[in-house]
Amino acid sequence: MLEIVEQLEEKRVEARLGGGQKRIDKQHEKGKLTARERLDVLLDPGSFEEYDTFKTHRATDFGMARQQYPGDGVVTGWGTINGRPTYVFSQDFTVFGGSLSETHAEKICKVMDLAVQNGIPLIGLNDSGGARIQEGVASLGGYAEVFWRNVQASGVVPQISVIMGPCAGGAVYSPAMTDFTYMVRDTSYMFVTGPDVVKTVTGEVVTAEELGGATTHTKKSSVADAAFDNDVEALMEVRRLFDFLPSSSRETAPTLDVHDDPNRLENSLDTLVPDNANTPYDMREVIEKIADEGDFLEIQKDFAGNILIGFIRMNGQSIGVIANQPMVLAGCLDIDSSRKAARFVRFCDAFNIPILTLVDVPGFLPGVSQEYGGIIKHGAKLLFAYAQATVPKVTVITRKAYGGAYDVMASKHIRADVNYAWPSAQIAVMGAKGAAEIIHRKDAGDAEKLAAHTKEYEDRFANPFIAAQRGFIDEVIMPHSTRRRVLRALEILKTKDVPEPMRKHDNIPL
Ligand code: HXC
Repeated sequence: MLEIVEQLEEKRVEARLGGGQKRIDKQHEKGKLTARERLDVLLDPGSFEEYDTFKTHRATDFGMARQQYPGDGVVTGWGTINGRPTYVFSQDFTVFGGSLSETHAEKICKVMDLAVQNGIPLIGLNDSGGARIQEGVASLGGYAEVFWRNVQASGVVPQISVIMGPCAGGAVYSPAMTDFTYMVRDTSYMFVTGPDVVKTVTGEVVTAEELGGATTHTKKSSVADAAFDNDVEALMEVRRLFDFLPSSSRETAPTLDVHDDPNRLENSLDTLVPDNANTPYDMREVIEKIADEGDFLEIQKDFAGNILIGFIRMNGQSIGVIANQPMVLAGCLDIDSSRKAARFVRFCDAFNIPILTLVDVPGFLPGVSQEYGGIIKHGAKLLFAYAQATVPKVTVITRKAYGGAYDVMASKHIRADVNYAWPSAQIAVMGAKGAAEIIHRKDAGDAEKLAAHTKEYEDRFANPFIAAQRGFIDEVIMPHSTRRRVLRALEILKTKDVPEPMRKHDNIPL
């Protein structure tokens, strides 16, 4: 028996070497950790339970029968993050470049099935040369099996992808269908067709990094939610994100112990909004001042900066925040910001995370490119997402809430539960100057008269009280008490229960 036990240990040691020491050294030279080293960083020490350590591929063409590596290029199993379980897969670039064979896919599918069955999140660490070329369609079928499971798991368990090496061709569609995608700068890239094919087809000359690196996908395409300098930083940030999320749609996110007074007042908020309605201020400051311990995990911070999205905690409870940012494009809604916020609203709603909306929005961005780009359809995504969300929704208007954007940004009319406004709020169809110019067109050219009309409109509408008189605003609150008021609203909404209408699924404009 002892001998058998020793043999098992030897087999395990061999399996853990993946494609061998030489290839491990090559991986390290590129500044990358190996598949197992990554899991060591991601998971609590000693918590990893590996499955299918000895599974090997079944291919025989191209001399493959002689090339067998236990594990077949992916390490799978489960472990814990701060005590909470998660299923994981981590592609091993040292074995056939982490390429996906039929059996490699079977291993991933096994943990995906278990994740859905047991209501436990799935985290995938991607580092792969794509479809295992020697296997042809068997490998493509394996990918599609993974894709199908991504869809079945969507909205059931959180799915997180970390891109830590190549991710090309159709392989990109698995991360694209997960909830969050993180990338590592300089060592990871994602594209449907690489630089060589691009050059052949369009004549464009571009490097892999320019075409599909972390900077491209966090700043231009929004395919990725965040970029980090190295593997360790990316994985530590996944741990941080994980703590904000519930394990499944059947649960709520864990409530963490925080050391922050729920009744804390923030007097500095009373003077944050400038007198001049066109002077920007940093909405991030509002978020950080009302959040527990000032902690704000921002998602997609390098994309569509005119809207901020991310997670905070209030009294330890995980809250999704959506906030117009007056510092960028005056905080207006455009195609990118609408898409960015809409998907986040839907994530929060799917996973029982209450939504706090902070509003300072002058309207939708005018322009030919916006209209040609389909702002109507993209703006409708955000409207649809908010109207559909049944999680507790609390809204605070800090300054402007103009036009259609007032309706969209979690207004009472699309069923936000509690709508507050600061005394500096201005709720109107449009800004006072524009309104005066339209209503008093006959006075165009008479600056004095127009100024008087503008003042008249301002006096009448540049406040929250007309909306408050109608009950569209539940209460005009002191900015310094925002944390306490929002927190109490969220507490009372914890038992909110809204029946869902009977339907197969909605038809959100895509
Ligand atoms: C089999 C592969 C492989 C693959 C890499 N390898 N990609 N083996 N199938 N797809 C092997 C290499 O032969 C090599 O083996 C080892 O992995 C490391 O590869 P290198 O080329 O030495 O590494 P590097 O220089 O870092 O380049 C990485 C790479 C390159 C850019 C990913 O390997 C590459 O271009 N691979 C082919 C990518 C590709 O065309 N894949 C198919 C895409 S189509 P040794 O034994 O030397 O260590 C696709 C469709 C998916 O994926 C569709 C889903 C629906």
